[in-house]
Amino acid sequence: MSGGLKLYVKTYGCQMNVYDSERMAEALAPRGYVTVASMDEADLIVLNTCHIREKAVEKVYSELGRLKEIKDLRAEVGQAPVVAVAGCVAQAEGSEILARAPVVDMVVGPQSYHRLPELLDRLAATGKAVIETEFPEDDKFRHLPPRTAPRAQQNVRQNAQNPARNARQNLQNHSASAFLTVQEGCDKFCTFCVVPYTRGAEYGRPVLDLVEEARALVGRGVREITLLGQNVNAYKGTGPDGRPWSLARLLARLSEIAGVERLRYTTSHPRDMSADLIAAHATLDKLMPYLHLPFQSGSDRILAAMNRKHTAKEYLSLARRIREVRPDIALSTDIIVGFPGETEADFEATLEMVRTVGFAQAYSFKFSARPGTPAATMDGQLSETVKSDRLQQLQQLMNEQQISFNHAFVGKILPVLFDKPGRRTGQLIGRSPYLQSVHAEGPGEWLGRILEVEIAGAGPNSLSGVIKASQRADIGAGA
Ligand code: 5AD
Ligand code: SF4
Repeated sequence: MSGGLKLYVKTYGCQMNVYDSERMAEALAPRGYVTVASMDEADLIVLNTCHIREKAVEKVYSELGRLKEIKDLRAEVGQAPVVAVAGCVAQAEGSEILARAPVVDMVVGPQSYHRLPELLDRLAATGKAVIETEFPEDDKFRHLPPRTAPRAQQNVRQNAQNPARNARQNLQNHSASAFLTVQEGCDKFCTFCVVPYTRGAEYGRPVLDLVEEARALVGRGVREITLLGQNVNAYKGTGPDGRPWSLARLLARLSEIAGVERLRYTTSHPRDMSADLIAAHATLDKLMPYLHLPFQSGSDRILAAMNRKHTAKEYLSLARRIREVRPDIALSTDIIVGFPGETEADFEATLEMVRTVGFAQAYSFKFSARPGTPAATMDGQLSETVKSDRLQQLQQLMNEQQISFNHAFVGKILPVLFDKPGRRTGQLIGRSPYLQSVHAEGPGEWLGRILEVEIAGAGPNSLSGVIKASQRADIGAGA
């Protein structure tokens, strides 16, 4: 290893970017790059970006402004870092980025980051900015290093001068919960969304590749795996029998792996919620009772303009069918307010949908016109004031629903997978089966374990509780 090269990756946006950032670091590790926690000391700075809403893009450009100052200062002492923009802004804006932010040396789309080492060589050889935004025919995953390296070791090396940061990072890297991208791209073309343009057509990874990656994750101490895809339940991947397997079959196969204790998947489209996937929520014990299922709007007129390919009634019937097989399932959703042409009545239909379904969690957004998408140029664009006002009303309703969902657990016992230290010393943070964040007191050695917690308090975004005393004794004796 040609030691000493420092990598800083800043991740914006969705969980798939979190996964991609990890794999970028792994692709660069054979070149001697180790991850550091501060961009000030890095030799290579990667911004892994998000293009979904205008705000996300603006954040990237303002960060590039700050980066210019850092790069100029370090250039004075002959240590200018290489600055790379990866992810969906790279894909969507390509050479525009160089025009707007000349501080950037490399622009690398989400399907090309396995080539980062080679692109760095090209930059070093030519001294000219490199742009790589093709959608190559071959599968990037097959060109990435296998996921076997124990990351803790890498971090011991990387942060030798800073033990406190080292400890924090090691805990993070030992996380018992991991993402696994199984599907990428989207063929749905909702009229507001950039994903089909930035991530390309739907592609499902082969089943055996995923089994192997899941096993490697278990080898690192992972106990919970969240399968990722822009439209994950449209997953079709070649199975060991050479035939296309569905997400339900993939989940069943992964749940056979010893050491995988919890499985989740996100994000799903209502149209792809097939009967076998609904049934999997009843039959697979390891599949957690949580489903993120965006409905976007409660108005059929707006749903049609969004090209969502489902009606409000169809969504309600789907929610009912899922609850029939798994009555305790926590439903979560995405909602857009202020889509072009949305009237007060349309918005009221959205509120009504929320009241009828009852969600454990919802992510709500003001419509943001994205260049190149059909909705950006539709008639009836709404003012910021209308959008903000509707968002506030919706969030108030959601807040009430989240509080009532969480309050129902006070006094009950939940199995919690602890995977993060809390802010205060002695505090641990974990996740319930319903994906609630749960805070409890306990020593760091308990991270990575699933422990029973008696829930004592609930807020809109988290629960707090006490780890059951009988379990403490068990752990003390066993560990
Ligand atoms: N404006 C606002 N929200 C959007 N989303 C996607 N595109 C836009 C847009 N142009 C939201 C959708 C999607 C989530 C990931 O982001 O609700 O489900
Ligand atoms: Fe975007 Fe999801 Fe619609 Fe695909 S299904 S276009 S990712 S909102």
